[in-house]
Amino acid sequence: MLDIDALTRLRDDFADSLGKVSTAADLQLLRDTVLGRKAGAITALYGTLGGLSTDRKREVGRALNELKAFVEAGLDARKTQLEAASAPMPSADLTLAPRPLPVGSRHPLNAMRERIERIFARMGYEILDGPETEDDWHNFEALNMPADHPARDTQDTLYLQQPFAQGTRATGDARSGVSLRPATLLRTHTSAMQIRYMERGAPPVRIIAPGRVYRRDNLDLTHTPMFQQVEALVVGEDVTMADLKGTLLGFAREFFDQRTPIMFKPSFFPYTEPSAEVFVGCQSCFGSGCSMCKRTGWIEIGGSGMVHPSVFEAVGIDPERYTGFAFGMGIERLALLAHRVDDIRAFYENDLRLLEQFAS
Ligand code: DAH
Repeated sequence: MLDIDALTRLRDDFADSLGKVSTAADLQLLRDTVLGRKAGAITALYGTLGGLSTDRKREVGRALNELKAFVEAGLDARKTQLEAASAPMPSADLTLAPRPLPVGSRHPLNAMRERIERIFARMGYEILDGPETEDDWHNFEALNMPADHPARDTQDTLYLQQPFAQGTRATGDARSGVSLRPATLLRTHTSAMQIRYMERGAPPVRIIAPGRVYRRDNLDLTHTPMFQQVEALVVGEDVTMADLKGTLLGFAREFFDQRTPIMFKPSFFPYTEPSAEVFVGCQSCFGSGCSMCKRTGWIEIGGSGMVHPSVFEAVGIDPERYTGFAFGMGIERLALLAHRVDDIRAFYENDLRLLEQFAS
């Protein structure tokens, strides 16, 4: 007997069976049982509609259509589920190398400073750190640069207080190692560290002092208002200019390559006598002349000389007994030469495309 209750039971039975289907074959079987063209339960019910009155036919027909739509939707959904469950897992190739993690690297100027330090450490030098803010005494006066010396020009020096303000001139015990002078400026060179070290005690001295220095320079290809130097000072009973030359030659050969020549050019610094500018053979043209070395074949890397007797006197060291040499080199300058970079600003702009080339 065809009535609405029978359709409801059919619907419940179907839902029940659908829940139990676990393979595509079971699903096909269920589809045939319900919708099969010959033996399907719903198909058979459609066949009985003909014997009903018009009203009943309409009512039962609508219910049958709904049931059929419900069954089809259920079968389709289950089919999709079964297909998804049996699809192969996307495979992972476990032999592939992992993607590299992005890691930082040392800044080229730090790497350069450490390389310079290692070379001098091997030669037996002590490595010193010092203050970047200085007083007039250490930066100028004790280095034989009296108050009217042009190097004190406010054009070059960055002052923290009015230059020569009260209380900033020499006070305190120069040999106590403790400066009582307040810092009034940003050091213009690492040579101030010569004074700080010698104030502390008697020779022998064999030190380098790398660090930042400041000058009122505008940015251009070769200038930055802050840059780095490495200072060297050696004092003993018979230190000579030959020692200075041998040390710089040894450094240049270690730093560049074993055939690199050096050249001294007479110069003037208030704190050394005699004084010389230090040149190394151009690393771009190896002496034949190019634009890097302005066709001279030589590139300047710093200043040097024999410690001036007045400097020894300022720190209480007997200039009759001791002699010494000193030199100061620009770290950026050395880095530009070693890496053949032609613009010093490249080191301070922190463009990753440049820095990544130095990743080690
Ligand atoms: N202080 C000098 C400068 O900043 C470099 C220098 C020259 C350092 C001669 C020295 C030296 O120790 O003896 O340009």
